[in-house]
Amino acid sequence: MKRLQVELGERSYPIWIGPGALGRLPGLLEEAGIDTGRKLFIVTDEHVASLYLEKTTTILRDAGYAVSHFVVVAGEKAKSLAVYEQIITAALKAGLDRKSAFLALGGGVVGDLAGFVAATYMRGVAFVQIPTTLLAHDSSVGGKVAVNHPLGKNIIGAFHQPKLVAYDTELLKTLPPREVAAGFAEVIKHGMIWDETFVTWLEENAEGLQRFDHTLLQEALLRACSVKVAVVSQDEREQGLRAILNLGHTFGHAFEALCGYEKLNHGEAVAIGMVAAAMLSEKMGIAHDVSKRTRRVLMKYRLPVSLMLPLKADDVIAAMRRDKKGEGGKLVFVLPTAIGKVEIKKDVAEEQVREVLRALQEGGES
Ligand SMILES: NC(=O)c1ccc[n+]([C@@H]2O[C@H](COP(=O)([O-])OP(=O)(O)OC[C@H]3O[C@@H](n4cnc5c(N)ncnc54)[C@H](O)[C@@H]3O)[C@@H](O)[C@H]2O)c1
Ligand SMILES: [Zn+2]
Repeated sequence: MKRLQVELGERSYPIWIGPGALGRLPGLLEEAGIDTGRKLFIVTDEHVASLYLEKTTTILRDAGYAVSHFVVVAGEKAKSLAVYEQIITAALKAGLDRKSAFLALGGGVVGDLAGFVAATYMRGVAFVQIPTTLLAHDSSVGGKVAVNHPLGKNIIGAFHQPKLVAYDTELLKTLPPREVAAGFAEVIKHGMIWDETFVTWLEENAEGLQRFDHTLLQEALLRACSVKVAVVSQDEREQGLRAILNLGHTFGHAFEALCGYEKLNHGEAVAIGMVAAAMLSEKMGIAHDVSKRTRRVLMKYRLPVSLMLPLKADDVIAAMRRDKKGEGGKLVFVLPTAIGKVEIKKDVAEEQVREVLRALQEGGES
């Protein structure tokens, strides 16, 4: 296993990546200061529960922990205030107190949801991320936790850092192909915002990575997480730098919300969003020739690069103006200046965004 450290003073924590992390959970919890005297509450979803809940519970009970759990429906719809309240009720009934800890066993949905529960339960208790999707290399690190509002994604949330991230790469083997691709979208994003050599490495190793070659996968996750750790350690609460992690997300969140989360998952929406951002960069003269390579690398990972669903530009723009990254309804974008480098642009002209949306729906070059 490899270890990365998020340095945030008293909120610092380790990320363990590699096969066998789940089996080592009791030791890692002890090390993080969560000893066997504390009650644990696992939040997971129906798919992950059927695969890994029993195993996880057994490992923890054998080590002397008292464990209870709550299983939510799979998918983005679990990130709601209604489900949030159900978990709080179950945790109260299970007798969880301020010394207890929540464990998020699942993908980004479960991580965001359980993290938000932990951030607010009795004004905040400890939580641990046990990511089970590739995409969750991103969501499990950095402490952004949230549920959705019918009018927008991640609108009700908090910053609440986990005490530990235990990332067992063995658990990724059961992921459906569509979720694997979605996860690679955020891996690629971490290259696109920070490190051209990482993008090149991802292009060269696309085949091996999609075969889940173990050494390659561990390196990809380590490199992608390192970018996130570097950014978050410098700007925990998104006062500046951290916003670059939103490359592809202003477009992506709007697409995701308008298509219904089922038709387009988060990673797919971000992939199309990164192509849109690259096209917008070229249109504004910020960069030359970035969209072609953006499309190419995404396509190597079987990700969508154009918008096949008929969305009205008016609706997309309205959704973007509601996005919480916007300031006073202005359109704010993270735009590539080259592969591996980005800039934040505030108050982008609406007409240029409309032109990009038109080209994106025609399926190609602007
Ligand atoms: N907090 C952050 O910083 C941050 C960053 C990126 C994304 N996110 C959020 O993450 C969410 C998306 O996360 P996701 O893509 O992991 O989605 P997800 O949690 O819905 O998981 C995707 C699907 O895979 C299934 N699954 C999970 N692990 C599995 C496994 N090991 N084997 C088989 N099936 C498995 C799940 O049941 C689900 O059906 C979005 O809500 C997004 O907003 C948050
Ligand atoms: Zn994302």
